[in-house]
Amino acid sequence: MILERKTESGTIFYIGNEAIGCLLQTVYGKLQLLHLGIPLFPEDAKALDASRLLGWGNDVLYEDGDPASCLDTIPLAWSENRIGDYRESSIELLSGGQAVSGDFVFYSSEILKEEEGEEDSCMPHARGTHETLKLVFRPLSSLLRDISLELRFSLFETVLVRQTLLENRSEQSVFVTKLMSSCFDLHGDFRMSTFDGGWIREMHRHDVPVTFSRIVNESTNGSSSNRHNPGFLLSAADAGEDSGEVYGFNLIWSGNHYGSAQRTATGYTRVLQGIGQEDLCYEIVPGARFETPDAVIAWSGDGYNGLSGKMHRFVNSCIVPENWRYRERPVLYNSWEGCMFSFTETKLLSLAKKAKKIGCELFVLDDGWFGARNDDHAGLGDYSVNRRKLPGGLEGLSRKVHAEGLQFGLWFEPEAVNPDSDCYRAHPDWVLSSPGNRDLYGRNELLLDLTKKEVRDYIVESVSAILDRAAVEYVKWDMNRCSPVSGNKAYDYVLGLYEVLGRIFGPRPAILLEGCASGGNRFDLGMLCFAPQIWASDDTDPIERLDIQNGLSYLYPLSTVGAHISAAPHSMTLRSTPMSTRANVSFFGAFGIEFDLDGMQAVDEAELKETITFFKKHRSTFQFGRFRRNPAENGAVCWQVTGEEETLCGLFHRLLPAGPEIEWLRVKGLEKEMRYRVESRPQLLRVKQFGGLLKHILPVRIDPEGAVLRIADHHYKMMDGQYSAVCSGAVLASGIPIHKRFSGTGYDPSMRVQGDFGSNLFTITKEQ
Ligand code: DGJ
Repeated sequence: MILERKTESGTIFYIGNEAIGCLLQTVYGKLQLLHLGIPLFPEDAKALDASRLLGWGNDVLYEDGDPASCLDTIPLAWSENRIGDYRESSIELLSGGQAVSGDFVFYSSEILKEEEGEEDSCMPHARGTHETLKLVFRPLSSLLRDISLELRFSLFETVLVRQTLLENRSEQSVFVTKLMSSCFDLHGDFRMSTFDGGWIREMHRHDVPVTFSRIVNESTNGSSSNRHNPGFLLSAADAGEDSGEVYGFNLIWSGNHYGSAQRTATGYTRVLQGIGQEDLCYEIVPGARFETPDAVIAWSGDGYNGLSGKMHRFVNSCIVPENWRYRERPVLYNSWEGCMFSFTETKLLSLAKKAKKIGCELFVLDDGWFGARNDDHAGLGDYSVNRRKLPGGLEGLSRKVHAEGLQFGLWFEPEAVNPDSDCYRAHPDWVLSSPGNRDLYGRNELLLDLTKKEVRDYIVESVSAILDRAAVEYVKWDMNRCSPVSGNKAYDYVLGLYEVLGRIFGPRPAILLEGCASGGNRFDLGMLCFAPQIWASDDTDPIERLDIQNGLSYLYPLSTVGAHISAAPHSMTLRSTPMSTRANVSFFGAFGIEFDLDGMQAVDEAELKETITFFKKHRSTFQFGRFRRNPAENGAVCWQVTGEEETLCGLFHRLLPAGPEIEWLRVKGLEKEMRYRVESRPQLLRVKQFGGLLKHILPVRIDPEGAVLRIADHHYKMMDGQYSAVCSGAVLASGIPIHKRFSGTGYDPSMRVQGDFGSNLFTITKEQ
């Protein structure tokens, strides 16, 4: 519901539904924020108006003689410099060489239905039922004429979305050096959670108290980045996973971003969200307009889990391309970690056969199929298939993969070029360069300048031709270096990328696109508007993934998180983890397999087959159920997902201490009085894991390094202790103790033999 009401203190706007409420009021022509958070009533405006209560001392008055007209103390939903508000500005312009923020005052309002006014937008937008409040402001500054500022507030089922537009109707250019998508002055004490890291260490949550120094969450590497995801949270000091107030902020944008939070003396925290400002000086020529990306804002009174639920619903229903909304993702096999650049058609077909046998549905050929791409020094930019590796071409391979009963998918890295490529040799001027600087390489590659039309056309035509010829059903769109440019060029690059993605995949909605940028260097809502899933990290070690996927889960639903079982020991951490844990972690995402299946032990093959069968049975719950992070002791992680018929719970631990405590399982949100059956997923144990211990229990002596044990290990199916119980939803919410973990003395078959990095996956169903 969006309401507008004229009162003697100004025009009031209420934007609210069951998920969020936002109350705004014009005051001195500015936009005052009366409230953002719990849904309330427009009639509450008067009680919430703090503007008359504030303003004294050395403050500067906006209206001479009106002591309350101090903009520095009024909570606002848009802010400017040089008019007495000394907090952070939402806008900075250059006009005639002078810095100006405009002194914009309210001019008009309009309530728009659905996508009205977005037709000529260059940005990706959320789609789905919504209403939009459009507020237009005009500048009082004598340095700006015929410029209009438009603030949009769109109400979706679970979130509020904001966008800012600046239109130049004057006869001279104006330059944007800063234009935020959203500004809110929120009342309260907050903790800010950001999601940071780097390559193979993305999305680690970090918390800091919001105080008087400004906290900035930004990216400057041209992408939304693995360093600082654009999404962040502000939570009340007492907020936990299931209680307390939490605000979530995100941006539908894949480039440099800026978010900040700073508390001021009046007890408000100013929160800004928008594009990165570094080096930005964007010319808006007469007749043109500048659009910011959409900022997404959600609120929850039910802690972080409540907030995640709202964000997940929004992404699943309004962000991912329509054709993929609530559609189960195929179980994929990806060739990368198993083959890297070294493969032949025969090898790929052998993998495809095995992938099919264990239950995969989609076979993806990753890097290395084109040009002289035998390592990462050559070939990027070229699209001619490497006939030495694939004598029958992509068409031949695709036909054979299809004949195996699998879908066929292909990797591309279209934004990049190796100097050793036909593309670069023919068009060295297509490279994205920073004026005056040398070209610097990242993974031996340069980026193509997507701001150039001829470059965009080349990519669209080359990729489209391959997709159509080879009947490709899935694309992994990779990008493996940071940008050499900043400011305007970096902004235009992202718009160029969106145009390219729209032109290739718009007409081919059946293709499943997976985003990737060295793993999670571009995991954001902008990419998700085109790609229903994104490869979360090149790090597939399940223990590392606990932090990465946990971080992602605050803002992004499991359906969007690419998660694969890979080999152990892991290629990056050298950590050995049981197959059961690799599977249990990967279940919580867009699941796949990514290691060399040739030479797989019989026991592994059997386990993988059962694992995939289990996943398929529960896939819809894993990908679209209601996700929660549950409490767990001693650094353990507990993830829960609840679908219509069942709840699935993963309990993961890292290092097993000697003499481990009894472990407790907590399951939230069930019907208190209902009886539930709790069963652990059957898991295999490897005989070899017991090493020299075996001599204590076997009647014959066996060499722990010898052939007998190796053979037994490869073929013998030994099940771990399984857990089963029936109890009420009430007791599950507070926790039940589960079977003991093996710790040296004695052994009984119900015991869970987990060692380090063990885990269990529980299914919880109503007892009939
Ligand atoms: C980086 C990706 O994240 C990997 O999964 C793989 O596709 C390689 N690039 C291929 O070069």
